[in-house]
Amino acid sequence: MKALVLAGGTGSRLRPITHTAAKQLVPVANKPVLFYGIESIVAAGITEIGVVVGETAAEIRTTLGDGSRFGAQITYLPQERPLGLAHAVLIARDWLGEDDFVMYLGDNFIVGGITSLVEEFRAERPDARIVLTRVKEPSLFGVAELGPDGQVVTLEEKPRHPRSDLALVGIYLFSPAIHDAVAALEPSPRGEWEITDALQKLIDSGRTVRSTLITGYWKDTGDVPDMLEVNRSVLEGIESSVEGSVDEASELVGRVRIAPGARIERSRIVGPAVIGADCLIRDSYIGPSTSVADRCLISGSAVEFSVVLQDSRIEDAGRIEGSLIGRSVQVVGSERRAHAHRLVLGDHSEVLINT
Ligand code: DAU
Repeated sequence: MKALVLAGGTGSRLRPITHTAAKQLVPVANKPVLFYGIESIVAAGITEIGVVVGETAAEIRTTLGDGSRFGAQITYLPQERPLGLAHAVLIARDWLGEDDFVMYLGDNFIVGGITSLVEEFRAERPDARIVLTRVKEPSLFGVAELGPDGQVVTLEEKPRHPRSDLALVGIYLFSPAIHDAVAALEPSPRGEWEITDALQKLIDSGRTVRSTLITGYWKDTGDVPDMLEVNRSVLEGIESSVEGSVDEASELVGRVRIAPGARIERSRIVGPAVIGADCLIRDSYIGPSTSVADRCLISGSAVEFSVVLQDSRIEDAGRIEGSLIGRSVQVVGSERRAHAHRLVLGDHSEVLINT
């Protein structure tokens, strides 16, 4: 069995972070979200991984390499434009050959991994198996309708009037039967080759499409609130480890991970929280559910329930909460009581100012 990991696309809901970085590489507890997916694929015994890449191909390649760090062999499959999930299967056709495969959406996060799903598929070998979960706003997802004995009857991508609250989770298991269905597709009204349409073709032609309902934790990390929530949930599971230095005037409370080279001075850190390598945290408070990536400086500030990416500087900034701060960002308080804010913000930035 092979794995097809989708790491192309544009990531418009995570702008401005994704103007310059791939959304699948935004870190969760200081590790790119895509790593969790690849690790769960390898843990399920699959080591031949095809990664579909688009505009951000260079960054994805540099970060994942040849796959050896995961114990896998990675083949990169360039997709000219993000023309849909089924289009990704189409361009991977030759590489996939006649193997069964798991398709994994690179911005999805599933706690508990995929091993049991893969084992179930290998044992029963239906033509396809999809994974579903109940959601509050089904119209934001692919939606499945099940028949009386649990078989999948219809599938629709982001329907205006959903027929159920069962959303497709971004993990699909396929036999090679999917290729004929994909080859027969036309682009949808939104101009994409939809995998839901390919699955519907399988169903309509009498093939077996099974579903697994998961009740555990799953998130599409496509927007900022989801990203912060995934980060919070992963931090819940961390163990304490202090490899950097913590001075006598500082206090660590609960589970806190301090990476090598990081220095904590006259600060209080309440876990769960992670502080990346070579950070300096000075005269500050870092609150629960916060990840600070490598080489950040936080001084005279309080940061809680937030993700701060590498090389950023937060100084005398008051209290920051529920925020996603990009790479090499500067958030600096001003001494002068001027009645004006001075801002240099990238396109699509969002700033909530207390007036
Ligand atoms: O997260 C689950 C949802 O994922 C499902 O419920 C939907 O049925 C499914 O279409 C998908 O919806 P999204 O709107 O979240 O898809 P998105 O455009 O974010 O793409 C998912 C991943 O696949 C993301 O990592 C980017 C990548 N991708 C996407 C497209 C359209 C590609 O690599 N190539 C593409 O052409």
